[in-house]
Amino acid sequence: MASLKIFLTLAILLTIATKTSTCTSSLSLSSSSSSSSTRVKGIYWIENPLFPPSSINTSLFTHIFYAFITPDNVTYKLQPSTSQTTSFTIFTNTFKTKTPPATTLLSIGGAGSNSTLFTIIASNATARAAFINSTIDVARTFGFDGIDFDWEFPKTSNEMNSLGELFLQWRNAIAAESSVTGKPPLLLTAAVYFAASFFLSGEPRTYPVDSINKNLDWINVMSYDLHVSTSNETGAPSGMFDPKSNVTVSSGLISWIRVGVLPEKLVMGMPLYGKTWQLEDPKVNEIGSPSVGAGPGMDGSMAYFQVLEFIKLTRAKVVYDVDTVSVYTYSGSTWIGYDDPFTVSIKIGFAQAFSLRGYFFWVAGLDTFDWKISTQASKAWL
Ligand SMILES: *[C@@H]1O[C@H](CO)[C@@H](O)[C@H](O)[C@H]1NC(C)=O
Ligand SMILES: *[C@@H]1O[C@H](CO)[C@@H](O)[C@H](O)[C@H]1NC(C)=O
Ligand SMILES: *[C@@H]1O[C@H](CO)[C@@H](O)[C@H](O)[C@H]1NC(C)=O
Ligand SMILES: *[C@@H]1O[C@H](CO)[C@@H](O)[C@H](O)[C@H]1NC(C)=O
Ligand SMILES: *[C@@H]1O[C@H](CO)[C@@H](O)[C@H](O)[C@H]1NC(C)=O
Ligand SMILES: *[C@@H]1O[C@H](CO)[C@@H](O)[C@H](O)[C@H]1NC(C)=O
Ligand SMILES: *[C@@H]1O[C@H](CO)[C@@H](O)[C@H](O)[C@H]1NC(C)=O
Repeated sequence: MASLKIFLTLAILLTIATKTSTCTSSLSLSSSSSSSSTRVKGIYWIENPLFPPSSINTSLFTHIFYAFITPDNVTYKLQPSTSQTTSFTIFTNTFKTKTPPATTLLSIGGAGSNSTLFTIIASNATARAAFINSTIDVARTFGFDGIDFDWEFPKTSNEMNSLGELFLQWRNAIAAESSVTGKPPLLLTAAVYFAASFFLSGEPRTYPVDSINKNLDWINVMSYDLHVSTSNETGAPSGMFDPKSNVTVSSGLISWIRVGVLPEKLVMGMPLYGKTWQLEDPKVNEIGSPSVGAGPGMDGSMAYFQVLEFIKLTRAKVVYDVDTVSVYTYSGSTWIGYDDPFTVSIKIGFAQAFSLRGYFFWVAGLDTFDWKISTQASKAWL
């Protein structure tokens, strides 16, 4: 625990130091501008007629991920439908023409996609080549700047090895395409579990560290949903620390660094939503209190802006929890754990203290209409 407190203090100090240095020295400005070309302030976007790509404020983000497309289960190629290609075109054109422009990546897979299909593709050289070829063709045809791979999750050591081989072949194909066309190479990234070699379910396995370092631009670490509403007790869904457990953002990120993934390849994920629980006893309402199931919201999830509405409507109590670096609110038997602009700033200080590449959010449309969390995040990491 002592070391965790030191990390936290360091993170806070760094956040403060970053804020003050920006207006003082031109030296720090010029050095930060060279690294800012590679900094990642990302956000995923999912098809949503109420929240078109044009509603994303690109002053706050450098990279926007289109979520998702899945390969055909017979040809193993990306074969976008007409409605998808229309959507791709709107998406990439929007971010090319916006002020400022943003970099776009096409994300393949996602939590809802068939993991077995990726097992087949990653392990079979013929299927893999067809898949890779189609991802590059589709990305180029529709004007994406990169490709993101979101396989949730490889289940065995063999599948982790196949994933490493897939990344290698993918990088080779991207490099070859770039040298033939003279275009800058597509970015290649992957969304990965919160920890590198620790899984809450299934057999022990470790991500292909060397292949990640050599072949990917970076990985998006999904350091959220660490506590979910089906659990019998409340928890910080994306807590930085936990006095009782290492299922935390900090342990996850440290596990990635410990296995040897370069910090500049790590991008920290943060949720723009809370998780809700129904308390067993409304009077027992801390982190770790007994719960009897999900609270309001689809699958026990509530957008940040909805959490604020809930607080206003019910005059719910809001509590900052120093031990976990998270915030929670409760009223009656409803309990919600979430992140807000303050907790997100602290997390970003932590990410900077470890020289990470940046952060990303899941998902556009859940912040307040005036982007309170995203604005604070962007300011915290100048
Ligand atoms: C977008 O964000 C920037 C930076 O915070 C802010 O100055 C600007 O007003 C925002 N634009 C809109 C349309 O919200
Ligand atoms: C492919 O997907 C379709 C639609 O989900 C399904 O009906 C079919 O059985 C699948 N085929 C294979 C080979 O997995
Ligand atoms: C997932 O894909 C595999 C291989 O194509 C197929 O056999 C299986 O039926 C699919 N599962 C679902 C739930 O579609
Ligand atoms: C690999 O994929 C190809 C193309 O789909 C298929 O023809 C072949 O049977 C597969 N090989 C194995 C060993 O599954
Ligand atoms: C994909 O394969 C097609 C057909 O062989 C070829 O024309 C195209 O150049 C390939 N694309 C890439 C990116 O290699
Ligand atoms: C948590 O601790 C266990 C037991 O020491 C260890 O096996 C696991 O890898 C740790 N998980 C993380 C995310 O550090
Ligand atoms: C929830 O279940 C776990 C595992 O069975 C147990 O250790 C824990 O005490 C339970 N929590 C509560 C609040 O009942």
